[in-house]
Amino acid sequence: MAHQSALIAEDIEAYLKAHEVKSLLRFLTCGSVDDGKSTLIGRLLYDSKMIFEDQLAALEADSKRIGTQGGEIDFALLVDGLAAEREQGITIDVAYRFFSTDKRKFIVADTPGHEQYTRNMVTGASTADAAVILIDARKGVLTQTRRHSYLVSLLGIRHVALAINKMDLVGFDQAVFDRIVADYRTFADQIGLKVFTAIPMSALRGDNITEPSDKTPWYSGPPLMRWLEDLPVEDDLREKPFRMPVQWVNRPNLDFRGFAGLVSSGMIRPGDKVKALPSGRESTVERIVTFRGDLEEAVAGQSVTLTLKDEIDVSRGDVLAQAKSPPAVADQFEATLVWFDDEAMLPGRPYLMKLGTRTVAAQITEPKYKVNVNTLEHLAAKSLELNEIGVVNLSTDAAIAFDPYVENKDLGGFILIDRISNRTVGAGLLHFALRRSQNIHWQAMDVDKRVRAAAKNQAGRVLWFTGLSGAGKSTIANLVEKRLLADGRHTYLLDGDNVRHGLNRDLGFTDADRVENIRRVAEVAKLMVDAGLIVLVSFISPFRAERRMAREMLEPGEFVEVFVDTPLAEAERRDVKGLYAKARAGELKNFTGVDSPYEAPEHAEIRVDTTRLDPEAAAEAIVGWMERPI
Ligand code: ADX
Repeated sequence: MAHQSALIAEDIEAYLKAHEVKSLLRFLTCGSVDDGKSTLIGRLLYDSKMIFEDQLAALEADSKRIGTQGGEIDFALLVDGLAAEREQGITIDVAYRFFSTDKRKFIVADTPGHEQYTRNMVTGASTADAAVILIDARKGVLTQTRRHSYLVSLLGIRHVALAINKMDLVGFDQAVFDRIVADYRTFADQIGLKVFTAIPMSALRGDNITEPSDKTPWYSGPPLMRWLEDLPVEDDLREKPFRMPVQWVNRPNLDFRGFAGLVSSGMIRPGDKVKALPSGRESTVERIVTFRGDLEEAVAGQSVTLTLKDEIDVSRGDVLAQAKSPPAVADQFEATLVWFDDEAMLPGRPYLMKLGTRTVAAQITEPKYKVNVNTLEHLAAKSLELNEIGVVNLSTDAAIAFDPYVENKDLGGFILIDRISNRTVGAGLLHFALRRSQNIHWQAMDVDKRVRAAAKNQAGRVLWFTGLSGAGKSTIANLVEKRLLADGRHTYLLDGDNVRHGLNRDLGFTDADRVENIRRVAEVAKLMVDAGLIVLVSFISPFRAERRMAREMLEPGEFVEVFVDTPLAEAERRDVKGLYAKARAGELKNFTGVDSPYEAPEHAEIRVDTTRLDPEAAAEAIVGWMERPI
């Protein structure tokens, strides 16, 4: 079964040719830390002769020296050694290893088994055709097994092998094997994983890896390598409607305008009608350009540049699709979300969402439930924590072209990125667009923001006061409003304590509630700017992400951030409302500055240092700033 390296020496041409036409299978291995994943991968590489001679010599020496396997080769050392090498230039968490046999080429996504596992697994699994789920025969089906199987089924991986490993440690006992298989089947049925192939094996000893083992005469199925070699790799992507997310627009000169990208499904020929999304404009493909010359057709998996007959507006992040069956366009969705980050998901916080080649801001509007991966129960959820999986509604700040994940992984799978830390915090699968968004259309009005503001002889804007509790925000905002009114301005003051008596009376002081508090007040402020008012917002608004969101909801120049800078010690010394004392006494939880964070602005338009300016002087400075010639 192993690689015919002899052919390399005898007839290199024949070898390369054989190699080129071999099909490629991408698979993923899942298992807990010591289920033997490294040993299995090492074994597969070894048996397919993909280990170079010098590595092999080192491996034999290491195995003798470290001696975990009593002088025999410890395959785990091989993989762990490669992992260590990889870690020197940590850019990816998933190592893709390549090996091949006479029949097929393989890429195995090796996902490290530490706590980042879920994230790595989802990343590695997104392109996998098959999954090998490892079980330690001594331990049977564990929570991890269920979690991985649930993810595998969620991600739409259709071929699953249940590799029941370490059979040598249970005396190759068929009863043990049967019990684990029965146990697993109950769970697999519940998650809709109808077919799986269970293989009793010992990765360490090589039983049922490449050849049927004589230790398991009761097992008539294939060894793992044969299972991997014989799996049908479906090419059904080509049968689906054409989709190509546009990676970049290639415009070297005025005569050429090409749209470059990877064809994610279907095929395309010159003369085919295409639609650009989200704009919905149509055109016809003129040429399919590649480095090696023009093509007569391109199929899923190929990277090409298309030129169109008409000059329609297409930019990076758009999708070119078959005109007759284009993807849907929407800005509100139901999705499954897997959360990876140590910091819990915050509904209402704007994250960056990357889907295909498009990046937009997205908010979880409504967590619906989370799933207990052991019992598959749906539990009520307000948020998702590290490694939790749930179903949520989310909305994007711009309409995007998408397909449900089950139809197209590229156009239905997305990741979420934290805008401040740039960490990938979650990954998700779109189910469908919410109908409510499709039936609500923006109404254009004759009287708009400018007209309303002009009638008041001013320009609407927001003065956003942020700072600790007791910093002096409300006092200063109050003085500023009085001065503006005296100048004939039309104003409104939104104050945290006051708004929390009405509109936001349902909210407390958890991170999630504060995010929602600011989201609502930002929306209200936006409406008031639309009404032509000068709005003073006086909220602690402790998080940069939400202040930035409020800024981005308005037009450039309309949002003026005023940092009322009072050091914690000073605010606490003043303690006007006696709340710091309560917080220190443990009678008030999540108090800003005490046991809840405050993220000071980095680029506020105005900063007032209240240790140097009294409230009158601070108000004066702010009004002066507003009246300065622009
Ligand atoms: S924010 O963090 O969500 O922006 P907001 O400005 O609305 O806070 O409300 C802050 C006011 O609520 C404070 O000035 C204080 O009077 C009161 N308050 C009560 N509990 C807390 C708390 N745990 N943390 C901060 N402020 C609190």
